[in-house]
Amino acid sequence: MARTLSDPTQPVFERSRLYTQILHFLLAQNLNDKRVLDYGCGPADWGVFMATEGASVALLDLSPAAVELGLRRAHASGVGGSVQGFARDASDLSCFRRHEFDLVFASAALHHTLKYPNAFDELVRIIRPGGTLLLAETYNNNPLLGLARKLRANLEGEQEEQGEEIILGDREIGQLRRVFRKVELCEVNLLAMGKRLLRGQFHRPLARVLLRTLEAVDRALLAAAPGLKRYCGEVMVIAER
Ligand SMILES: C[S@@+](CC[C@H](N)C(=O)[O-])C[C@H]1O[C@@H](n2cnc3c(N)ncnc32)[C@H](O)[C@@H]1O
Repeated sequence: MARTLSDPTQPVFERSRLYTQILHFLLAQNLNDKRVLDYGCGPADWGVFMATEGASVALLDLSPAAVELGLRRAHASGVGGSVQGFARDASDLSCFRRHEFDLVFASAALHHTLKYPNAFDELVRIIRPGGTLLLAETYNNNPLLGLARKLRANLEGEQEEQGEEIILGDREIGQLRRVFRKVELCEVNLLAMGKRLLRGQFHRPLARVLLRTLEAVDRALLAAAPGLKRYCGEVMVIAER
């Protein structure tokens, strides 16, 4: 996982700062025998990873193809016996018991599901008291970044319905705070969100130098003015039930 995150030829390299935080958080947990949900699992890198750390993992995705792929990857990684797949909409999680999960991890997935009235309540229902909701998300408190996102979507001719209309911001964090006992935010990338302009270029040393420079400037800036953190473009959320 760490190797993939630091490989500039991999698409996930662009999110390596956010995902490295996630990786460190997960490695610091004892996942052995924990019941874990990879929510909106996509290709299920994280679900399979958590299974290799000893967790009993449920993969959930609207796409049966994604779930099938995740199950195959779990088998190929030797953890097929501890991974189950659920191809269904996250707004109905009746396939899971109340308080079933110790940890629910949603990577770039919650913003797709929050628009469904039932989805948030369902998510809360299945996490046990004392359990954790872990999110890796784009963060939407910065109006300049919001504008840049809209501009990019328009320039690239994206359809309106891309499922991206709810990007996590103060409102959604407030919603979490009302239900979870403790909500911790780890924001990353302020100026370094300029990385979006370098997409597809990270194999070039110059692009990586530029990115590292922006990240170093961010570190200095955010240490000097922590209030700027809320304007970062990405966030890891750790919410304890
Ligand atoms: C951006 S992908 C993230 C995939 C994966 N978590 C990752 O980090 O690579 C979002 C995933 O959410 C899934 N998704 C979207 N709407 C959903 C819904 N209503 N219920 C369950 N999954 C959904 C999509 O099929 C997609 O696989």
